[in-house]
Amino acid sequence: MSVLITHIGELTTNDHDRPLTDAALVLDGPRITWVGPADEAPAADQHVDAGGRAVIPGFVDSHSHLVFAGDRAAEFAARMAGESYAAGGIRTTVAATRAASDEHLTSHVARLVAEMHRQGTTTVEIKSGYGLTVHDEARSLAVARQFTDETTFLGAHVVPDTDAGEPADATAYLDLVTGPMLDACAPHARWIDAFCEEGAFDVDQARTVLEAGAAVGLGGRLHANQLTYGAGVRLAAELGLPAVDHCTFLRDADVAALADSGTVATLLPGVEFSTRQPYPDARRLLDAGVTVALASDCNPGSCFTSSVPLCIALAVREMGMTPAEAVWAATAGGARALDRDDVGVLAPGRRADLLLLDAPSAVHLAYRPGVPLVASVWKDGRPL
Ligand code: NIG
Ligand code: FE
Repeated sequence: MSVLITHIGELTTNDHDRPLTDAALVLDGPRITWVGPADEAPAADQHVDAGGRAVIPGFVDSHSHLVFAGDRAAEFAARMAGESYAAGGIRTTVAATRAASDEHLTSHVARLVAEMHRQGTTTVEIKSGYGLTVHDEARSLAVARQFTDETTFLGAHVVPDTDAGEPADATAYLDLVTGPMLDACAPHARWIDAFCEEGAFDVDQARTVLEAGAAVGLGGRLHANQLTYGAGVRLAAELGLPAVDHCTFLRDADVAALADSGTVATLLPGVEFSTRQPYPDARRLLDAGVTVALASDCNPGSCFTSSVPLCIALAVREMGMTPAEAVWAATAGGARALDRDDVGVLAPGRRADLLLLDAPSAVHLAYRPGVPLVASVWKDGRPL
């Protein structure tokens, strides 16, 4: 059944240089079939009056860690009292996740995905990484797969403790990740990722993980340069990965490598908000010609927000992005980071994943921070 949407405030398509005014849009089934001036719109089976609301593509949140149990509110509170963030907190969530039932993990992910939908996210990537055994990584991905095709195997999140509470041997653990764990996880995953950082995995170890994943057909992505300077971003660029995520501590050579490779820099400002770290410099990246995406990184440790609108507001206020750049980064940018050409853009043939905002333009997402402006969410041509 076709649907014609009229009386749109500004229509952000990501297919035109600037938002359209006096525009209309037609969708048929799960796809957009027509975009253009309202007075030229074709007839459709059903008519929706947007009442002057802005329309934008649904958010493409290309980075989240939703499969976990427990929370780390106490760790957050300690941080806000002066402690600093360390990767080791991940092990707390690993213990809680291993102890949780499949049913608990599934209902928890369902709750978080619903929370994301309400805030305008129509495509979400979900990582494993809080199981860190063959069984717990595979079941984490099987749970994630119930909610999205964009699933990422992150067995290389940290080296887990042994049963005696000691850190396991990193070399032996990497053999597990790139061997039996990869075999068990690959059927449930599209991507493979590693946390390339001091306290997690170094650049040679990350390369080993990405190469093992590529050998079984998984695309690569990387957590890099979140807490310290390092070679992770350059590895992602060298390997031509679609995206490298965090990119907080960058030298000029890293920025140049990203610009040359076309690898998307996915910035996760909720992390800096929740860890009191300096924000990544989006302006510097954009001015150098790097493609920037924005994502939530929703996870229980470094950033427990599922709100892409919050990330947009932070990116504009704290990272030098214009509202238009930030909205592009959270939609078309996320799609690029996931190597998807069916989402993130409102044009004929693309998926009818779109948002009506209680605002005349998308600028209001940054101009009115913290206000729930997402009035309705359409996914695959249907209101959620
Ligand atoms: O993306 N950086 C590594 N992993 C997550 C944090 C995980 C945690 O603290 O539980 C991140 O920030
Ligand atoms: Fe992350």
